[in-house]
Amino acid sequence: MKILVVGSGAREHTIIQALRRDPEKHQLWAAPGNAGIAADAEVVALNATNPKVVTEFAVSADIDLVIIGPEAPLVAGVADRLRKAGVAVFGPSADAAALEGSKAFAKEVMAAAGVPTGQAWNVSDRTGLLEALERTGAPYVVKADGLASGKGVLVTDNKDHAIEHAEFYLQHGDVLVEEFLAGPEVSLFFLSDGTTVMPLTPAQDYKRAFDNDEGPNTGGMGAYSPLPWLDEGFIDTVQQQIAEPTIREMAQRGTPFVGLLYCGLVITDTGIKVIEFNVRFGDPETQVVLARLSSPLAPLLYAAATEVLQSVEAPVFSDDVALTIVLASEGYPEDPQSGRVLTGLDEASGDSVSIAHAATAWDGEELLATGGRVVSVVAMGSDFSKARALGYAAIGKIGLEGSHFRSDIAQGIG
Ligand code: AMP
Ligand code: GLY
Repeated sequence: MKILVVGSGAREHTIIQALRRDPEKHQLWAAPGNAGIAADAEVVALNATNPKVVTEFAVSADIDLVIIGPEAPLVAGVADRLRKAGVAVFGPSADAAALEGSKAFAKEVMAAAGVPTGQAWNVSDRTGLLEALERTGAPYVVKADGLASGKGVLVTDNKDHAIEHAEFYLQHGDVLVEEFLAGPEVSLFFLSDGTTVMPLTPAQDYKRAFDNDEGPNTGGMGAYSPLPWLDEGFIDTVQQQIAEPTIREMAQRGTPFVGLLYCGLVITDTGIKVIEFNVRFGDPETQVVLARLSSPLAPLLYAAATEVLQSVEAPVFSDDVALTIVLASEGYPEDPQSGRVLTGLDEASGDSVSIAHAATAWDGEELLATGGRVVSVVAMGSDFSKARALGYAAIGKIGLEGSHFRSDIAQGIG
């Protein structure tokens, strides 16, 4: 197949690495990609959030399937334009992407579909804000309604911080004040063709910057899969209580959801609840989920894109475990340094260790780190202690001045 992957992060590199393991040999393009992706696919420098530009390229290159990685192109309507041009695309329409693009919309859909989630109040001014904070009490959970690159959510015991955060985002639109949900978090992805859903395998993300869940929220500093501590039946419960009703509700509204529904879940004392929906593969969870995928990827995504998901076999996942450790630039997430030299990637990769590039670029002979999350080191093993030993030995070989990573990924698991 001729496949175009839209995006430039470690998630997109991981998708491309997985496509390269398919028995069928694909021709792969990435837009805009990065230095690591360029070694595995043909990179095309184009504005990935511009529907017209992406569609013109896909049509001219006779692409069979477009896989859209990040949320921004989806919310911008890249999938709509591609579909209109007759190109098969894995990723929802702009209307369906509102499940991630507007937290208030996601709450409305969940309420209509009877999907369990935290109580929330949509506020548009200071008076409403203070009332809502009074109702929930601490810890306070304040969320910007729209996309905010992972920076829109604040969970804090400090009411003044909650107010300050909310007032900043109130300048741009509504803000959601949400009930605090206590319990372990799980990410579970479902493929959907608009009617049928198919689960992938659960993963856990480490959202905070530093060990022991300290420091600010980030895009994700590491992940592991599977989750041996989950109850049997977890996937079925989430499918029946959350994914299926949501997909049905979206179809009923005339905005069928085609692509990947990312269910961000909390296991509370009173059951599994949705903390957020995303409308695309998670990063870094994808690195561990696809590392464990042992059946071909392209046929699954193509079947979802062409609305025949019920006709393909469910994906198969290895019994081996996978973990990923994210190497981040100095100052990430607040103020990441860019442009420093990155070394040791060849030495770090090996039989059970792979590297997914997130923010890298060549400058002549030198590889540079060009953003906050730089690479994801992915290690596999028959158990977590083996995978951890491999992963941490590998990341220790990578040189990047001032960089940091968490040392507790998958610690104490299995
Ligand atoms: P989100 O961007 O909605 O995933 O939020 C980022 C992170 O903030 C989540 O992964 C949780 O760790 C935390 N969070 C968000 N909403 C809540 C909530 N209602 N209760 C507790 N923690 C939350
Ligand atoms: N790892 C969180 C996300 O992809 O949104």
